[in-house]
Amino acid sequence: MDDSKYMVAVVGAGPAGLYAARKLAEGGARVTLFNRDVKPGGLAEYGIYPDKLKMKTGLRAQFKQILANPRLDYFGNVTVCCGGSIVLDDILESGFQAVLITTGAQGTKWLRMPGENLPGVYHAKNLVYHYNLLPPFGGKKYLLGKRVAVVGAGNVMMDIAHYLIRDRKVDEVIAVVRRGPAEVKFTKKEMETIAANLDLAALEAEFGRVAPLMRAAGQDPEPARLAFTDALPKASPPVSETRFRFEFLASPARVMGDWMNGVSGLKVEENILAASDGVVKARGAGTTRVIAADTIVFAIGDTVDRDFCIPVYNDSYMTVKEPRFPVGGLSFEAFNPDTNQSIERVFLAGWARQASTGLVGYARRDGEMAADAVLQYLQSRPPMPDLDNVVDKFEQRLIETHQRVVDKLHLEKLVQAEQAEAQKLGVEEFKFATNDEMFTAMGF
Ligand SMILES: Cc1cc2nc3c(=O)[nH]c(=O)nc-3n(C[C@H](O)[C@H](O)[C@H](O)COP(=O)(O)OP(=O)(O)OC[C@H]3O[C@@H](n4cnc5c(N)ncnc54)[C@H](O)[C@@H]3O)c2cc1C
Ligand SMILES: NC(=O)c1ccc[n+]([C@@H]2O[C@H](COP(=O)([O-])OP(=O)(O)OC[C@H]3O[C@@H](n4cnc5c(N)ncnc54)[C@H](OP(=O)(O)O)[C@@H]3O)[C@@H](O)[C@H]2O)c1
Repeated sequence: MDDSKYMVAVVGAGPAGLYAARKLAEGGARVTLFNRDVKPGGLAEYGIYPDKLKMKTGLRAQFKQILANPRLDYFGNVTVCCGGSIVLDDILESGFQAVLITTGAQGTKWLRMPGENLPGVYHAKNLVYHYNLLPPFGGKKYLLGKRVAVVGAGNVMMDIAHYLIRDRKVDEVIAVVRRGPAEVKFTKKEMETIAANLDLAALEAEFGRVAPLMRAAGQDPEPARLAFTDALPKASPPVSETRFRFEFLASPARVMGDWMNGVSGLKVEENILAASDGVVKARGAGTTRVIAADTIVFAIGDTVDRDFCIPVYNDSYMTVKEPRFPVGGLSFEAFNPDTNQSIERVFLAGWARQASTGLVGYARRDGEMAADAVLQYLQSRPPMPDLDNVVDKFEQRLIETHQRVVDKLHLEKLVQAEQAEAQKLGVEEFKFATNDEMFTAMGF
């Protein structure tokens, strides 16, 4: 018998939503997960590089175990807000006592500079979704040239460089970095996958160029070198001739090119480094140069979805400054800057609370802490009778308004169909690239 006392909706079934759902269920809540994608997992399924199969398989097994909890219902292929047929208020008005938003960072960060809309300019997220086969991105064509400038110096830039070097085998990848070598954010592990393609002479020349500017900001260039060279001893054997190089102290100012011929380069403003309060920032030097490239990819982080049903301020959803239910000193309670009030019964976690921040472990911790905040709130409310009625009525409504609502049984069928396909093809993993293929496999 289900002895759940509370009724909670979680919007988004990525790591933050799934681990939060588990904690909520353990705390006595009946949880309904709404997920835009057919499959659960979010970026753990559609972000983490496809060749990290062991990590992905491990996470999938954990997610499967979480979803097996009878206190948890899963409604996949259901977008809340963002043009979907249900909005946040529908959920709040249907008997759910609290809603936890864990929709990740689905918005695109634009630099609002000329040329950004030219063909051949992409945002990393779209390419990441493409090579991870998230519908509809998996089925789209992304035309890449031979010389690709990737803006950013985080692990997403490294994943894009990995794809360009080891899968697409382009001629040249240029990482365009607004600060210096000491401020790159990628890890040694990610560098190891493509370090064999580093153009070491170009790296040396670039270090020579920026070393005086680093010293002027109080930095020693030598330790910064290790972020690049430490990966060399364990570098994966190269599979392409791609030349991989870095251009530091360069802030994008304009994409050069035209609509007929596409991109011809990236005009950058040259920077100096300025240290203040222990933080080294880039300051425009007032000079520009053009980096020749026929494709530009922005790997500069993402923002939350602007089309979701809560207001966005400075590219983020907001949490109240003085939470009623703090956990670990943090606030998970949603705030409306337009009314200057909290959004009652709505909580935020994971990349929806802090866009493009941290690994799966961070999203998990954040989701679990948010679940604790929700449970604190629920304990201040009377237990809810007749929980089944809330889920059944909502499910009925979804079935009437949506053509294909994916539940846990459908997911099992999908896993079996993909495993069968992998076996048939003799490959380790097989993924359907379109929703239609998945719906057919699930028996819709
Ligand atoms: C390219 C890339 C590679 C990465 N590689 C690694 C790695 O190797 N190792 C590692 O530990 N971390 C990695 N990360 C980080 C990790 O993926 C994130 O920390 C984590 O996935 C964030 O979890 P989340 O649940 O907050 O958001 P997400 O994972 O983005 O999940 C959001 C979920 O919300 C759903 N959703 C969105 N909008 C709606 C809506 N309107 N209605 C209903 N549902 C909605 C989506 O379908 C999705 O399932 C990587 C990230 C990126 C971008
Ligand atoms: N393999 C993995 O484990 C893996 C893979 C992918 C992602 N992730 C994780 O996912 C999170 C997000 O990764 P991310 O790479 O998107 O973010 P990130 O690590 O914050 O890197 C973003 C990069 O973009 C630059 N940038 C931001 N705004 C810019 C602007 N306006 N102009 C020029 N450059 C700009 C940043 O420079 P500044 O430093 O100067 O701001 C930084 O170099 C991180 O926690 C990352 O570790 C992990």
